[in-house]
Amino acid sequence: MSAWRDLWSLPDDVAYLNHGSFGPSPLVVQGVRRRWSEELESQPMDFFVRRLEEHLDQAAERLGRFVGASRDELAFVENATAGMNVVAASTPLAAGDEVLLTDHEYGAVARLWRMRCAAAGARVVTATLPLPWDDEEQLLDALFAAVTERTRLIVVRHVTSPTALVLPVAAICRRARSAGVAVCVDGPHAVAMLPLDISRIDCDFYTASCHKWLSAPFGSGFLYVARRRWKDVKPAVVSWGGSVSGRPASWKDEFNWVGTRDPAAFLAVPAAIDFLEETGLETFREHAWRLLARAREAIVPLTGHEPLGSPGTERPTMLSFPLPPLEDDEPPVPPGRPDPLQQRLWSERRIEVPVTRWSGRRLLRVSCHLYNTEADIDRLAEALRAELPRSTVRGS
Ligand SMILES: Cc1ncc(COP(=O)(O)O)c(C=O)c1O
Repeated sequence: MSAWRDLWSLPDDVAYLNHGSFGPSPLVVQGVRRRWSEELESQPMDFFVRRLEEHLDQAAERLGRFVGASRDELAFVENATAGMNVVAASTPLAAGDEVLLTDHEYGAVARLWRMRCAAAGARVVTATLPLPWDDEEQLLDALFAAVTERTRLIVVRHVTSPTALVLPVAAICRRARSAGVAVCVDGPHAVAMLPLDISRIDCDFYTASCHKWLSAPFGSGFLYVARRRWKDVKPAVVSWGGSVSGRPASWKDEFNWVGTRDPAAFLAVPAAIDFLEETGLETFREHAWRLLARAREAIVPLTGHEPLGSPGTERPTMLSFPLPPLEDDEPPVPPGRPDPLQQRLWSERRIEVPVTRWSGRRLLRVSCHLYNTEADIDRLAEALRAELPRSTVRGS
C-alpha cells in the first residue's frame, strides 16, 4: 500500500485507475474546501459582498503562477465545459464561417460547437490528424490543410482524452497567428500533468478543469482569456455583470458573480497546488510514469499492441492501450453504454478503468496518480490475463 494512498479517501479494495476522468482530492484539500464553505455560512453577507472578490483574486494569483498566466487573465469557472461555452458565446460567427476541430476532440465540446455553428449558419470542420505522427510538421500540415479563409477559430486539445496524446499546442498557435486565426486550447488534462506555461503557448483562450490531475475539488476550473480578447468576452450565464463590492469594471466580473453560489471549490485550488508542490510535481510524474511502464510491460504481451504515443511529446500520466475488437459472440455495445470489459472489471474485480471507442479502435486508458501502486497495476494485468485469453492469440 502506498503511503500516499492514506492521504486520499479512496476505499481500500478499489484499484482506481481513472484519475483522468474524475480525479479525487486529497483529504487535506477536501478539508480546505469544507472550511471555506463554513466561513461563507458563518456570515454570508460579509463573505459575498465585501470579501469574495479579494479571495478569488488571491486564488487566481496562485493558480496563475502555476499555469503561467496573470491573475487578470484567469476567471474561475466550474469546469472546462463551462469555459468552452463562454468561448462559444464569445466567438462571432456568420453564415458560411467555419470552426476547425480535430478528430480527437471531446464529444461534449464537438456537440457544443455543432450547436453553436448550426445556430449561426456556420459549420464545424473536422481535421483528421495522423496517428502516430512522425514529426510536428506532419501534424501541423494535416491540421492547417483544413484552414480556409472562413476559419474563425481552431479548437484543439492539449492532451487528448481517449488516446492520451500530448499535442504541440504552442506550434499550432504560432502557425495559426500567422494565418490570422484564433485558437482555443481545450486543456483539462494538461494542468499538473505537464509543466504548463500558458504565456508561452500564446493562445487566445485556454479552458481547463482543476479537478483532474491537479486534484482540486470537483467543480473547479478556469478560463484563460488573452488580453487582446477581453473586449470580446460574453458570459454563457448572464447575471449582473458588475463588481459586487464596487471595484472598477473587469471582464472577470461576469464570472466572479454568476448568481449566488458556493465558491469554496475555487478557493481551495491553492491548497491543491500546495499539496502537489510540497509532495513534488516531478515525484508525482515519475511515480505515474513508472507505474505506466509496468502496465505497458504487462499489457503489450497480452494484446500485441504498443500503447498510443507520439514522438517528441512529454510523458503523460495516462496511457491508452489498443485492445482487440470484441469477440463475435459478444453483443455490440449500444451507444452511451460502457464496454463489457469495463463493466466486468468493475463489478467482478473492483477495478475502475475506462474502455472507450475512438475512430474504430477499442482503447483501455490507464491513469496513475500518487495513490496508485504497483499492486493496482498487477491486479489490472492479472484481470486482463483472465479476460483477454482469446485476444492474446489473435493480437500476437
Ligand atoms: C479534452 C477534454 N475537454 C473537456 C473535458 C470536459 O471536462 P469537464 O467535464 O471537467 O468539463 C474533458 C473531460 O475529460 C476532456 O478530456
